[in-house]
Amino acid sequence: MSYLLGIDVSTTATKALLIDEAGAVVAVAANEYPYETPQPLWSEQDPSLWWYGAVQSIRQALAQSGIDPGAIAAIGLTGQMHGLVLLNAQGEVLRPAILWNDQRTGAQCDEIRARLGKANLVRITGNDALTGFTAPKILWVREHEPELFAQATHFVLPKDYLRFRLTGQIATDRAGAAGTLLLDLRTRDWSDEVLAALGIARDFVAPTHEGPQVTGVISQNAAESTGLKPGTPVVAGGGDQAAGAVGVGAVAEGIVSLALGTSGVVFATTNSPFYEPEGRLHAFCHAVPGRWHLMGVMLSAAGSLRWYRDTLAPGVGYDDLIAPTEAIPAGSDGLLFLPYLTGERTPYPDPLARGAFVGLTVRHSQAHLTRAVLEGVAFGLRDSFELMKGVGLSQIRQVRASGGGARSPIWRQILADVLNSELVTVNTTEGAAYGAALLAGVGAGIWPDVDAACAAAIHVTGQTAPDPVAVGRYEPLYAQYRALYPALRSIFEGVADL
Ligand code: XUL
Repeated sequence: MSYLLGIDVSTTATKALLIDEAGAVVAVAANEYPYETPQPLWSEQDPSLWWYGAVQSIRQALAQSGIDPGAIAAIGLTGQMHGLVLLNAQGEVLRPAILWNDQRTGAQCDEIRARLGKANLVRITGNDALTGFTAPKILWVREHEPELFAQATHFVLPKDYLRFRLTGQIATDRAGAAGTLLLDLRTRDWSDEVLAALGIARDFVAPTHEGPQVTGVISQNAAESTGLKPGTPVVAGGGDQAAGAVGVGAVAEGIVSLALGTSGVVFATTNSPFYEPEGRLHAFCHAVPGRWHLMGVMLSAAGSLRWYRDTLAPGVGYDDLIAPTEAIPAGSDGLLFLPYLTGERTPYPDPLARGAFVGLTVRHSQAHLTRAVLEGVAFGLRDSFELMKGVGLSQIRQVRASGGGARSPIWRQILADVLNSELVTVNTTEGAAYGAALLAGVGAGIWPDVDAACAAAIHVTGQTAPDPVAVGRYEPLYAQYRALYPALRSIFEGVADL
């Protein structure tokens, strides 16, 4: 029997997941760490945390399983996207990594748009300049820490720093590379035009690979630290969103992954490089060779419900909180909730956007408020679906829901009705690490391609069909919801100034 190892370098922990060649989970271990906010809007992490987290988690997973490390056919890497790790010629880390959720680069985003032209930037990379992406972080360090930047010979993404420690190779995957804003979406490789416009040398960026391609093997040193066998192949893997989509089998055009965690991510695979001309959706390469994806990110999805529960119903379990909403009619008797509790990314990249309940009357009970939260999140997610339809992705056949929020049958029904689409759940729950392990399996030749890997390991466990009556009720309410942000925007700016 051979085994596959998926490693996920997330913002909060590094996780190691071992699966067997049938896709069954054999062992899983995770080690947590913090991240720093040295100034308001900043978010940084010491890359050595990822390495020590990986060493511990790999050792724990190997011990739990009792398997011979020589039976691991390949390793796949995934992790938080967009983070900037700067290395010098000796491969030493020059400063803490600047993470995906760092917001310091507004001026650098303006500069990138000015240098390339926004329409041209979106046409080449598929994306507008967002503060979270990597390219503006490079410009920020060059501008604010010039002496340090002068020592930098390479930048890598968080998962690729782990790759470097495991294999000694500097390399990246195309899904992750697309999140830097330096990639040409069509050619799936670095854009010479963007690199030149931003004054970034070609040898500063890592060679790119498709998700299942082998990028190197476990070095002697890394084997001694981790307990892995030297020579074990490591595949490119993918950014956490692309690998997470592989992990639920969202790899074919028409199948959309809806990950309902703190944030809500709508991820649609495409067979060609679609992009939204205003850059309101992210357009990245998929971890599946030759495929792409569009993505909408809502910052507070299940996070809205958690805030609501913690603030207005502390101590109440989610099941008890949600159960009474079944008796409330679709539309919460005219109560709307806007879920921008931590600003928003899609469809409005606006850090000043705020949450709101609109339409309150004395007739509204707590169950109405709860239902309005569930519906408001569903409406916000629908915005991403509408943008996707607007760029031509009309054939959405199935939505695969995952994450904590998808455990509620009532919320799943609301989502199916608001999206007017069949919603399914699948057997896999280990997310991006699972997808990375499947990509490793393709690299090792256990499956011929990613479609076959997903077909072998992932199956549908539950289905929720839209209810035509509720679908009809939600249509006019969605139109009202859509009008909320434009109507409230100047008020959000005003209260932010206060
Ligand atoms: C994707 C994104 C997050 C990070 C952290 O665009 O910003 O998913 O990768 O998980």
